[in-house]
Formats: sequence, C-alpha cells, structure tokens
Amino acid sequence: MKMTNIYDGPYQWIMFGRDENKPEKIVDTNQYMVRTNSRSLLIDPGGVELFAPMLAAVLHYAPVDQITDLFASHQDPDIISSLGLWDQALPNARLHASALWEGFIRHFGCESIEYVPVQDNGGVINLGDVELQIIPAHYMHASANFHIYDPQAKILMSGDIGAALEPEGTPMFVDNFDMHVEKMRFFHQRWLPSNQAKRDWIDRVRDLEIDILAPQHGRIFKGDDVKRFLDWLDGLQVGSAI
Ligand SMILES: [Fe+2]
Ligand SMILES: [Fe+2]
Repeated sequence: MKMTNIYDGPYQWIMFGRDENKPEKIVDTNQYMVRTNSRSLLIDPGGVELFAPMLAAVLHYAPVDQITDLFASHQDPDIISSLGLWDQALPNARLHASALWEGFIRHFGCESIEYVPVQDNGGVINLGDVELQIIPAHYMHASANFHIYDPQAKILMSGDIGAALEPEGTPMFVDNFDMHVEKMRFFHQRWLPSNQAKRDWIDRVRDLEIDILAPQHGRIFKGDDVKRFLDWLDGLQVGSAI
C-alpha cells in the first residue's frame, strides 16, 4: 500500500492506495486519512479485502485508539464493505454516513461502531482541531451521496467523481489533463444518472476554494486541473441523456 501525504499543516491528509497485493478483477481504490494530534478520520476506508493492508498502513500514522471516525461517501462495497472488520478493530469509533443508506450499510456489520446518520443537507465532522464539511452530492452517483470538504486545506474528497480506472501502479496526480479525459469519460457517462444532479453539484462545488480534488479511484487533481475537471464535467452528457 502506497502512502502519500497530500496536506501537511497543523494536521495531515494522507492518501492510501495502489496496493500491489490487490486481487485481480477488483477495482483499485484510494483511501484517505485526516490525522490531527489526537484523532483521525478514515474517508471511504475501502473493501473487505483491503482491511488488513489498510489497518497496517493507518497504524503507521496513529495508534488504534486515535482512529475515532469513519466516513462513507455512499453505500458501495468498494467504499465500506470493510465496515464489519473495522467494527471489531475500533469498537468506540463513529461512522458518518447517509441516513438514507443506514439500513443498507449496516448489512456490512455495524454492531459496536456508532452510526451517525447524515441528513440530506449534509453536516460537519468535528475532529476537535479541525472541522470538515459534509457536502451533498446526491445522484453523484448514489441516490444519497456526500463529499468531504476541508476549507483550511482546500481539499475536496469527491468520492467517485473524478474517478479514472487505470492500470496498476499509475501515478498519484494528473499530469496531463487532456490525456486523462479519456480515462474518465465512460465512468462518468455510465455511472452518473442525471444531468440535473450534475449541474446542481457543479454549482455547489464552484463556490468552494479547492486546491486538491481527491477522488476515490485514479489520480488526484491539483491547481488548475481542478477547474479543468469541473469545466469538462459541466459539458459532459451523462446517464439517461446518452
Ligand atoms: Fe460508487
Ligand atoms: Fe467507487
């Protein structure tokens, strides 16, 4: 598992991914950790097959009792099917996830972890030293879907939005936007159901100051590539429109 520090301030953002032991035919995923002095949040902690390497990786940064919060952007297995194992490793943690999906996500196993239901209009995750915003991203792609915005680090963790499915060992950051587009097109056209929801999300996200757009698959967008991505998505017909 590769670990990449994407923000280093009074607290850190760390990206975990490119696991070379990933089973074939399982889609590669990016996991994120926000680490403060005494607490840590895992964002989209991943599939059940990834639990052991993820646990080993996050313990490089925080002792187990300081992993206090989990967040799931939506209900997909690549996002949160590891929940039943985290439930045994972190019995005192909290999971922030959609209220709409609670009855479904609990199928992955949520006996000890406290499920904090996020309402449709979003909310916040307070880690003491830092407060993160939970941004609505409904139908992008799941019917209830949320992203995480950090106004201090200027990072938007955008779930499946911005995802690219690429061969193993691909670089962490987009280095040539024009060439990257073709790696994203099919995914966004097929998985996003609604042009109207896309419009709504783009309007909301354009109001945010974003230095880094960090998706759950593929490469991270930095600087001007963030705006390039939003402009590209803006012009893309998706879902039933195609
Ligand atoms: Fe998904
Ligand atoms: Fe995904």
